[in-house]
Amino acid sequence: MVKSAVNISHKPVLIKEILDFFPASRANGFMIDANLGEGGHSAAFLAAFPALRLLGIDADEGIMEKAKIRLEEFGSRVSFYNGWFSDFFKGFLDTAYERPVFILFDLGISMFHYEESGKGFSFVRDEDLDMRISSKEDFTAYDLVNSYELRDLTRVFRELGEERFAFAIAKKIIARRNVKAIGSSKELADIIASAVPIKNKAKSRIHPATRCFQAVRIEVNNELENLKSGIEAAFDVLADHGRMAVISYHSLEDRIAKHFFKEKNRECICPPEMPICQCRGQRELQILTKRPLTASEDEIAENRAARSAKLRVVEKLPLEGK
Ligand SMILES: C[S@@+](CC[C@H](N)C(=O)[O-])C[C@H]1O[C@@H](n2cnc3c(N)ncnc32)[C@H](O)[C@@H]1O
Repeated sequence: MVKSAVNISHKPVLIKEILDFFPASRANGFMIDANLGEGGHSAAFLAAFPALRLLGIDADEGIMEKAKIRLEEFGSRVSFYNGWFSDFFKGFLDTAYERPVFILFDLGISMFHYEESGKGFSFVRDEDLDMRISSKEDFTAYDLVNSYELRDLTRVFRELGEERFAFAIAKKIIARRNVKAIGSSKELADIIASAVPIKNKAKSRIHPATRCFQAVRIEVNNELENLKSGIEAAFDVLADHGRMAVISYHSLEDRIAKHFFKEKNRECICPPEMPICQCRGQRELQILTKRPLTASEDEIAENRAARSAKLRVVEKLPLEGK
């Protein structure tokens, strides 16, 4: 593993598995790490393939500064884009970059966000309720928690957090903010915990605020929409026979990747009632991971964050006549 001059909080997951999917015949090509974070995956790729060039994308300017220092040793082989990956891929044709032979998505946020960012991502810390990955955006967790109506708060907790007590939690939040605005992550976590029945708290292996915090973060950063449009635009720019790998950490993310890959893997898109294919459709990709890969027990023992990681990899097929 590459030594670093900065203090690193995040352990990248499934490194060996992802490196094995890199098309070694194109090791002098260009790849994009769409979720650079502290640059753990990027450093591993750059070290493993000495002729590879890489662009790292991250919407968080703070974490990107750390990655820049960490990846300094790779010099001009590395470049950076600070912004949303969906914006980058949609504007790709206006850039001077060549088509990437590999694109990696490692979704969500990093250990850095919980432990160092000070943005209220963690329910065990007492920080301002912010949760913006990019500080260039205006809408914060404070705005969400203090302005969403009961119906919308319930929807966020239920749909994005799969939280069983969504309605009761939303009601508690509204009752509390009617007295005084909810300003900190600890305050929010305590309100959520107070709305969950004691017997459920006792049975659960996770903190009662885990799901709601995830839901608020996803909503504040528009993560699912960003992912849907980002993955689609990224696939468009990928080189023929290039590969795309997606690591997701919850079922909502995984579903988006799985669905997109399944659609692109279909030969025919005619309606089922059509007896003979009229669309002359072509498969646009090959799925290389029939089932998503997950971390080994050893990796999970070393890094708890790896327990929910799922890796899906596809290869882009050239379209005939294009
Ligand atoms: C799980 S971390 C990546 C960790 C990284 N692979 C490493 O080894 O350090 C995900 C990163 O993606 C960034 N991020 C999340 N959604 C993004 C998006 N839509 N566009 C750009 N960056 C995003 C977060 O700021 C975070 O740093």
